[in-house]
Amino acid sequence: MSEQTKVSIASDHAGFDLKDQIIKRLIDSGISVIDRGPDKKDPVDYPDYASKVTNDILNEKAHKGVLVCGTGQGMAMAANKKPGIRAALCYNSEVTRLAREHNDANILTLGARVIDEATAMSLVETFLNTDFEGSRHADRINKIG
Ligand code: RB5
Repeated sequence: MSEQTKVSIASDHAGFDLKDQIIKRLIDSGISVIDRGPDKKDPVDYPDYASKVTNDILNEKAHKGVLVCGTGQGMAMAANKKPGIRAALCYNSEVTRLAREHNDANILTLGARVIDEATAMSLVETFLNTDFEGSRHADRINKIG
C-alpha cells in the first residue's frame, strides 16, 4: 500500500465500529483517508453512504473505497449501480486478491456482522496491495461499462 494512496470510507450503523478500526489502521500505516461517515452509531440508510464513497472514486478524490455494513451486501448493491464502480463483497483473502487481479475492483465492501476484525484488516490490506493484471481482464471489465 503506497503512502500516496487515498482511500474513501463509509459505513452504516452496523459497520460503524469496524469502519473506525479500519480508519485507525490505515492512518497508522500512513494512508490518507477520507471518512465519509457516519460520525455516530444512530441508524442510517446504507445507500446514502455508499454514494458518498462512489462519488469520491468517480470524481477522482480517492483512488479506492471501502464500504462497511452488516453483511456488505447492501453496500455492494448500492455502489454497483454507478457506472465505473466495481464494488466487490469480499470475505476471504483469495476472493479479495482476485477481485483486484481480475476485476480491478475499486471498492471493497465488508460485512461487519459476518467477519471478524482481524479478517477485515487483512482483507483491506490485500485489497490495497494487489494490482490489477490487465490484459484479457481489461477487455472483460470494459464490457461491464
Ligand atoms: C442493517 O441492519 C443491515 O441491513 C445493513 O447493515 C446491511 O447488512 C445491508 O445490506
